[in-house]
Amino acid sequence: MHITVVGTGYVGLVTGVGLATIGHRVTCLDIDKEKVTRLQSGEVPIYEPGLAELMREKMAQELLTFTTNAQEAYARGKVVFIAVGTPSNPDGSANLTYITQVCAEIGMYARQDMIVVTKSTVPVGTNDYIKETIERHLCSDVAISMASNPEFLREGSGVHDFFQGDRIVIGTADEPTAGVLEELFKPLEIPIFKTDIRSAEMIKYASNAFLATKISFINEISNICEKLHANIEDVAAGMGLDKRIGSQFLKAGIGYGGSCFPKDTDALVQIAGNVKHDFQLLKAVIEVNNKQQTSLVQKAKQLMDLSGKRIAMLGLAFKPNTDDMREAPSLVIADQLLTEGADVVAYDPQAKENAKLLLPHIQYVGSIDEAISEADAVFLVTEWDEIKQYPLEQYVELMRQPVIFDGRNCFELERVRQYALDYYSIGRVPVL
Ligand code: UGA
Repeated sequence: MHITVVGTGYVGLVTGVGLATIGHRVTCLDIDKEKVTRLQSGEVPIYEPGLAELMREKMAQELLTFTTNAQEAYARGKVVFIAVGTPSNPDGSANLTYITQVCAEIGMYARQDMIVVTKSTVPVGTNDYIKETIERHLCSDVAISMASNPEFLREGSGVHDFFQGDRIVIGTADEPTAGVLEELFKPLEIPIFKTDIRSAEMIKYASNAFLATKISFINEISNICEKLHANIEDVAAGMGLDKRIGSQFLKAGIGYGGSCFPKDTDALVQIAGNVKHDFQLLKAVIEVNNKQQTSLVQKAKQLMDLSGKRIAMLGLAFKPNTDDMREAPSLVIADQLLTEGADVVAYDPQAKENAKLLLPHIQYVGSIDEAISEADAVFLVTEWDEIKQYPLEQYVELMRQPVIFDGRNCFELERVRQYALDYYSIGRVPVL
């Protein structure tokens, strides 16, 4: 099948490469000339394990091409996936500027009946707006059929998630359209859930909001565990054994970040507000998360004067296996440390360049050794394997004072006890 994917951000690119891998001919369209030139030369602009190799392979097989030429791209695709960004407006609502531009172009260039599939996360009801906007701009006598196909990929494991997802949601009012999309996804052998468009749009927001709720819940339990000397890792493991609860997304830490949960939870509060529903639970989830991001430095402040101290930050990306710094807890932590007058030295295996743009006032180094040398305290912010596997004796050896504030519970307490370290983590007793 000939498919056009609009937007080569994280979702669009993984979708384009994935669809080409299951045998479709895919044209990826983007307005960013520089990005398209890089993609055409086989370079992936984001860090996503496994994506570059697969992309080059599909390009070599001529199943995947990149272009900035909208006319050409829409002439080819019988099915068009919209995967452009929907950033937040200052009030938390989703900004549909890019979506609107895409609709106008589809209308202008569509020359055959087309199925338009929305992958971008859009407020409930937006697919009606997309269809109306395309139809308003149509220059040919063609029929546009709409479907919502929300995306559940996680950054850092996008390629795995594309091929091994738990479900594919197809929302459409049109049975033949559902049939075409079912056929398109068939090679993936992933369960398909069909519903109406609005329910599909809501499934995306409700799923992200629920996962964010799980995280804020376990973070609150961790705060209580600290006061009562219980161990959050054991509590979460014990809870997770109940299949109704499930073990995933019960990892306590310094709060969720990234380009999805913060944006989508804000947007859902807004969407609910628009229909006069006060989504109190989700507001609390967001508030708990904001507080949790500040909790590690608050803990440190009670124990030491941070002013003039050399503080190492290990990990900056919002989670491991990505270079994405959007809404990363490290931004809040670095800001707090600088406000306290600390001298911050940071290391991240991939996110340094992106971090420099957002955190210009800290020092960046190229290894964990360099970051922790002569440090008065270390903050573990992102649980990269490299950070989890780094030998604990090195902290004792290299730091001025071996004090670790671990925001991701990277180490077993039993192991830490074997070293002369002061170790403070989340929801567990300190090791002193
Ligand atoms: C999230 C969802 O997991 C995807 O299903 C969804 O497609 C995506 O948003 C999206 O809407 O595009 P992502 O933001 O890439 O994916 O990353 P997650 O792995 O979900 O992690 C989000 C944040 O939650 C990270 O900061 C992570 O450290 C934190 N987290 C996650 C926890 O603090 N504890 C956990 O137990 C799990």
